[in-house]
Amino acid sequence: MDIQKIACVGAGLIGSDWTTLFISKGYRVTLQDISEEILENALSVIRSNLLFHEKNGFITPEAVEQALKRIDTTTCLETAVGDADYIQESVFDDLALKHRVFKAIDAAARKDAIIASSASGLLMTDIQKAAALPGRCVMVHPILPAHLIPLVEIGGGPATSPQSLDIADRFMKKLGKTTVVLKKEVPGYIVNRLQAAVLREAMDLVEKGVATAEDVDTAFCKGCGLRDPFIGPFMRAHLAGDNIERFFKNYDQSYRYRLESMETWTSFPPSAIDAVVKEVNKMPMVANKSIDELKAWRNDKLVQLLEVTREGQN
Ligand SMILES: NC(=O)c1ccc[n+]([C@@H]2O[C@H](COP(=O)([O-])OP(=O)(O)OC[C@H]3O[C@@H](n4cnc5c(N)ncnc54)[C@H](O)[C@@H]3O)[C@@H](O)[C@H]2O)c1
Repeated sequence: MDIQKIACVGAGLIGSDWTTLFISKGYRVTLQDISEEILENALSVIRSNLLFHEKNGFITPEAVEQALKRIDTTTCLETAVGDADYIQESVFDDLALKHRVFKAIDAAARKDAIIASSASGLLMTDIQKAAALPGRCVMVHPILPAHLIPLVEIGGGPATSPQSLDIADRFMKKLGKTTVVLKKEVPGYIVNRLQAAVLREAMDLVEKGVATAEDVDTAFCKGCGLRDPFIGPFMRAHLAGDNIERFFKNYDQSYRYRLESMETWTSFPPSAIDAVVKEVNKMPMVANKSIDELKAWRNDKLVQLLEVTREGQN
């Protein structure tokens, strides 16, 4: 399938990031949300994303203006999706809302259009029940900031066709994304499950008084996090043991001790939340910078890191 025309439904954080990516790669996008005010705000976010790309030499000043001309906005969902080849839905993660929106998209879109959801917390099994043609419904999950982070997780529910997964996978690769196609559906997919495991342990370390929130973040960033951009957990184990079999043999006992002492919470206890909120708000970076300043700082660091990891993987 030759994807040319894209509709983005939902113009919040993720919808704006997707639109930035699509238009910067030369695609026409119709961006839809429920009010003109939200769409105006999204356009200014998209412009500032593109100016960030320009500042970093990813795009020329002329290309920024040309890219912006490739966006149409509308509050009418039917207008947005009617002639689209690919529809990326990014409304709030609420199943009743996703059902309403998927039903409307499915009814208004061409029969051969792909409908992708950005959903983080919901499963495609549940979302696609609202569609008369569930085979073209795919989960295409980006990582924030989606116009910079390469990874996209792709998956489907039981009714998703292998062709739809393949089209979404090829399209994301064409956009320059690195894709992982899940073999099975699971809440949180891969990235958010790994993040949840780390966050649970980080919260418990603060709750138990082992370290401050700032020291836990420092241990992560200057310890394991430093090699995380190019070494995943399995490659780390392979290197730590001199080979992967030896790692599991040699570290069996020490992992048993630490795993036995780790929490298995299925939700965060209020006492742990209180402790972490207090400490995070006291972190100098958090106390002295606005959220927009922190995002700009993060994006600058990400661009530097992307350069390094590109070299590291070659
Ligand atoms: N924020 C993240 O880090 C992140 C990362 C990956 C995926 N996601 C997923 O992306 C989706 C969007 O998240 P977000 O962070 O952009 O949320 P957001 O709150 O920033 O934006 C959601 C947008 O949906 C719009 N919306 C609500 N009802 C609508 C309707 N009927 N028609 C059209 N638009 C409607 C809202 O007006 C809002 O602009 C969610 O499914 C979320 O799980 C979020």
